[in-house]
Amino acid sequence: MKRLLSGIQPTGVVTLGNYLGAIKNFVKLQNELEDIDFLVFIADLHAITVPQNKTELRKNIKTLAALYIACGLDPKKVHLFVQSEVIEHTMLGYMLECNTYIGELERMTQYKDKKVKQIEGVSSSLLTYPVLMAADILLYDSDLVPVGEDQKQHLELTRNIAIRFNNKYGETFVVPEPYIAKQGARVMSLTDPTKKMSKSDPNPKSYINLLDDINIIKNRIKSAVTDSDGCVRYDIVNKPGISNLMTIYSCITNKTYEEIENQYQGLGYQQFKADLAEIVANELTPIQERYKELITSKELDAILDEGRDYASMLARRKVSKVKDRIGLGRKK
Ligand code: TYM
Repeated sequence: MKRLLSGIQPTGVVTLGNYLGAIKNFVKLQNELEDIDFLVFIADLHAITVPQNKTELRKNIKTLAALYIACGLDPKKVHLFVQSEVIEHTMLGYMLECNTYIGELERMTQYKDKKVKQIEGVSSSLLTYPVLMAADILLYDSDLVPVGEDQKQHLELTRNIAIRFNNKYGETFVVPEPYIAKQGARVMSLTDPTKKMSKSDPNPKSYINLLDDINIIKNRIKSAVTDSDGCVRYDIVNKPGISNLMTIYSCITNKTYEEIENQYQGLGYQQFKADLAEIVANELTPIQERYKELITSKELDAILDEGRDYASMLARRKVSKVKDRIGLGRKK
């Protein structure tokens, strides 16, 4: 049996980038792989590495839980839980921090990017964040971690920490593999296609919030920045805008770039964007409808309770083993 694990931070909105780069793949893996144990969580401890509003954070945790299911995660096949409800994440995080070097953390691209944006000062947890992420993964002996491209460096660090720990204390952790889909792993901003689509972008026109009004979503696609040559052709270097839209098109319809190019030969961007707006709207409408039912139902709490209990059971066992390896506490 293979164990899969992934998580998303409950900060701000959930974007089309999160959906195509992560959630849609979770659903695919859930449906296609056999004999798996799949854990998906809401990374609320990661969210507080930067300032959060308490009411908003609580709301975002619930929204993300409902969205996971609305997007197709099946609670019969996946254990869904909230990270902070399984305290072993922080315990293992600390033990791993003692085996991670500051230099390794200072090299992380995401840390360098986020650090310069902090106006209230840089919290120490922003630096140690990738170690908590390593703990999330290693706590459950995860074999496969489906993530978008931007998490690749954190996965590499996780592997290094696991290997180092195993060498020092004896075989303790499974060394995980990232699962990064060939397409959709890096959905770009709609206003600046050289930048990643990000929920923390101050310009809301740059991203698609899965829960936005469908007409707003359509307009965002139609007004996405593209070049002026009008030819629907995939060329990430010279035509990043249209190439990004083609990626979105391809991820949802499963058509290849070649098929899309042939289909729109001589038709120009307007037709292509109008069709893509419909395609995205048709993908997101049922998700939004299911979300509205779930967000007010009691179902959600029962699902998260089950996930917490299952994850806690695995996590307790693992932490006890790791403490023993290091020599913490008293011998049983
Ligand atoms: P987060 O919350 O920033 O993003 C969640 C997931 O969405 C992917 N993603 C994207 N994919 C394609 N295009 C984009 N523009 C885009 N933006 C985001 C991310 O790669 C990610 O897969 N550190 C993680 C959360 C985390 C985690 C973990 C993930 C904490 N512990 C353990 C896996 C395993 C993060 O901040 O993701």
